[in-house]
Amino acid sequence: MIELRTPRLTLRPWIDEDEPAMAAINRDPEVGRFLNRPVEEAVVEGFFAMIADHWATHGFGPWAVEYEGRFVGFAGLAHLPPFLADAGPGPELGWRLDPAVWGRGLATEAAVAARDDAFGRLALGELISIIHPENARSQRVATKLGMRLCRQIHNPVLDRDVEVWHAHPLR
Ligand SMILES: CC(C)(COP(=O)(O)OP(=O)(O)OC[C@H]1O[C@@H](n2cnc3c(N)ncnc32)[C@H](O)[C@@H]1OP(=O)(O)O)[C@@H](O)C(=O)NCCC(=O)NCCS
Repeated sequence: MIELRTPRLTLRPWIDEDEPAMAAINRDPEVGRFLNRPVEEAVVEGFFAMIADHWATHGFGPWAVEYEGRFVGFAGLAHLPPFLADAGPGPELGWRLDPAVWGRGLATEAAVAARDDAFGRLALGELISIIHPENARSQRVATKLGMRLCRQIHNPVLDRDVEVWHAHPLR
């Protein structure tokens, strides 16, 4: 399996040791505040298997992100859950890091690498990101990526409208 390198990060396949670290990130209330659905314990426990299944089924998925030799979260592609089908076919470019490393530009750096791989190696024509209207950090990441806020859709699980951001390859 390939890895992606950036100046500060390695985006790599997941290893077993990432599972408890990712579960701790997922359980952090600050991390879960603006996600597409509430972070229930069943979701946390099934998360690692869900990512492995996504890679096995689609040949791509969220990358494990390593910074200074430590797993710090993920960035990469995932198909949207059926309840967000109004957003279009996707896939979604997403990002989620350990709060201990927020604010250093790492999510943007990781997402740029995942995006470039999606438009390059995978030759995808469009990526979307669903962002909670109050998730200012995530909106900033999307803006720095050059994504465009296109419209809002209703998230029936949260019972509120959320933003659909788009990215396209440079032509
Ligand atoms: C969203 C997330 C990945 C950002 O990670 P990060 O490594 O801090 O992101 P970056 O440092 O690349 O960029 C964050 C930007 O938000 C800005 N920012 C930080 N706090 C902010 C705030 N309260 N309001 C507005 N902007 C803020 C930062 O200044 C930075 O912008 P800048 O580079 O122009 O200064 C991280 O906060 C996270 O994991 N959140 C929880 C999961 C989540 O919500 N994922 C996205 C779902 S759509």
